[in-house]
Amino acid sequence: MDFKIKKATPEKFKTDALILPVFEDTTLGTSAATLSATTKKALENALAQGDIKGKAGEVQILTAVTESAAKRIVLMGLGKATEQTESGLRKALAATASALKSTAAKDAALALDDIQVGERDAHWVARQAVELFEAAAYTFNAFKSKDNHKLVSLKKVTLLTTTDPKAVEQGAVIGKAIANGMNYARDLGNTPPNVCNPSYLAQEARKLSRGCPTLTTKILDEKQMAELGMNSLLSVGNGSDTPSKLIIMEYKGGPKSQPPHVLVGKGITFDTGGISLKPAPDMDAMKWDMCGAASVFGTMQAVVEMKLPMNVVGVVAAAENMPSGKATRPGDIVTTMSGQTVEILNTDAEGRLVLCDALTYVERFKPASVVDIATLTGAIIVALGPFASGMMSNDEAVVADLQAAADYTQDKVWRLPLWDEYQALLDSPFADIGNIGNAGPKAGSITAACFLSRFTKAYPWAHLDVAGSAFNGGANKGATGRPVPLLTEYLLRQVKS
Ligand code: BES
Ligand code: MN
Ligand code: ZN
Repeated sequence: MDFKIKKATPEKFKTDALILPVFEDTTLGTSAATLSATTKKALENALAQGDIKGKAGEVQILTAVTESAAKRIVLMGLGKATEQTESGLRKALAATASALKSTAAKDAALALDDIQVGERDAHWVARQAVELFEAAAYTFNAFKSKDNHKLVSLKKVTLLTTTDPKAVEQGAVIGKAIANGMNYARDLGNTPPNVCNPSYLAQEARKLSRGCPTLTTKILDEKQMAELGMNSLLSVGNGSDTPSKLIIMEYKGGPKSQPPHVLVGKGITFDTGGISLKPAPDMDAMKWDMCGAASVFGTMQAVVEMKLPMNVVGVVAAAENMPSGKATRPGDIVTTMSGQTVEILNTDAEGRLVLCDALTYVERFKPASVVDIATLTGAIIVALGPFASGMMSNDEAVVADLQAAADYTQDKVWRLPLWDEYQALLDSPFADIGNIGNAGPKAGSITAACFLSRFTKAYPWAHLDVAGSAFNGGANKGATGRPVPLLTEYLLRQVKS
């Protein structure tokens, strides 16, 4: 989808669909006021009929509006004009973009002038609009036979503003890079696990760096990982016929000597649980156990697209967790790359086993910060549902930046503690640490993060548990592309400082 910016009021703008904000209190806004008397009358009549009350998320599409340059006028409810909220605007944009999918409109124009959410500027509004329109138009048809495609007609959206076209333009450019990154992450997540295996992810990384001099890709195979002592990572893929990979993508947009920010993604391309086998219902959802990795790919792509003047390293720990005669057993003890030994009590707690060695590996970059992203625990879904990613960290500055980025993008996070009391739950009688907490499922997300924290002492670090936010189960099944907006904004903020 293309986004254009035009400094204009909407009355003369020729479009298949003109999107006009309407409000709960004052009904029509200033953009509507510029329209012809007949058109305005038609809008007032529609509002008087009461099909739309102006609440955030309400949408009404009017056709056959005479004397209008627009073929359709889409009324987009935004709530009370003076009380517009981030969540209200996001709901409205998503509902509008989604309503347009059931029309044949090929292009649309969105009147921005009446949108004012607190102190948020035009740049922010443009970013939200681009992200939400792109998200609504997303389809994943690669595995549908030809005649079975859902097609979206909308190809172009013009953002109409009279105030600050420059800010809108810049917001749209960044929004587009983020949306592209999200779509990429969603595609990787949704690709079935018989196709998207560790080698497939390695190929994707090679593809990303092809023809891109600022990005170099390195793939470590099992033999190279064994030489480095990554026995914990390797133990996860033992039962699989498809070999594990460590994927390293180095983006050099800043001065050579500048320490990079590092992203580390959990790339379990399918998680059966291994010998600690998961129950059958909904096991297909475990193809999304590489969504942390997918968000690293999506963010790296956005960084390349925006040509950020900084250094970023993306690392993906890719493996498939399968049961077999060669699989790791509960009770096995492995020595990690760090030298610490781990008693594997539950082979289904495999994410931390691949991440710990990747987190030791990245010490070599002397990172400015490390953020790992993982669909790590079911417990985080119990705690936060789909709305926020869990965040745990050893560094207040990283926490502050992630929180600010989450607030700005509305790709939300919520922090959980890593207190010593929780650390003690990882004690093992036979090894340095157990791979699950010995309080059973209690504080499962925190004990998982405590495990990771044993491997991240050398740098400022945060862990994002995205098991609830990176994909949806149920009726609206699919990868969400989160937390690409959060990670990209986090990196953008490191450029400025
Ligand atoms: N990939 C799962 C976590 C998960 C569950 C992600 C549901 C998305 C939806 C992870 O590898 C796992 O199995 N975690 C276990 C840990 C337990 C064995 C300590 C869990 O959450 O049950
Ligand atoms: Mn698991
Ligand atoms: Zn898993």
